[in-house]
Amino acid sequence: MAKMNLVYSREEIAERVTAIGAEIERDYKDVLAKSERLLVVGVLNGAFIFMADLVRALGDLPVDVDFVRLSSYADHTSSLGEVVILKNLDTEIQGRHVLVVEDIADCGLTLAWLTEYINKRHPASLKVAVAVDKQARRKQPVNLDYVGFTVDDGFLIGYGLDYAQKYRGLPGLYELEITE
Ligand code: IMP
Ligand code: MG
Repeated sequence: MAKMNLVYSREEIAERVTAIGAEIERDYKDVLAKSERLLVVGVLNGAFIFMADLVRALGDLPVDVDFVRLSSYADHTSSLGEVVILKNLDTEIQGRHVLVVEDIADCGLTLAWLTEYINKRHPASLKVAVAVDKQARRKQPVNLDYVGFTVDDGFLIGYGLDYAQKYRGLPGLYELEITE
């Protein structure tokens, strides 16, 4: 039996995303040159809802959007594990101001790998936004510039986050309690 406990409501999430969006707009307003646009890179599938909300909270900031899809495997022979690209970026990174948007940072493997991948392609700048920073199992240090919510541990669903591809459409964030 699975039980779900509400952790953050739709309203609380909306309020946080509005605040982060305003912060991002302020931070990039004077960074972007005239005719330059922020390149917002979403990590599929989990980030699709947070990203949709976030780009609409950026006010007048001009943006391009792109997506990557990654698959990560815990590799017990190295602390890094392995990440495979299932869908690559369609946009040239070099010289662009890039904002990666991810649903959740857990071990940190996915974001550590992706930020290194993007940095190798010489962006003008690179920042990371996550809906949730889950810190208990962090193995790879990752720099999170914009964080919706910080939680210690627990398996979260909703707001794009899934359990076996289910529950992504729940408007709030819930902790999934799996009991026998
Ligand atoms: P990391 O590489 O360990 O940071 O893992 C990040 C990925 O694991 C996220 O993009 C999610 O897809 C998945 N993940 C980690 N924690 C959770 C969770 O609590 N709920 C749903 N997915 C999670
Ligand atoms: Mg993900």
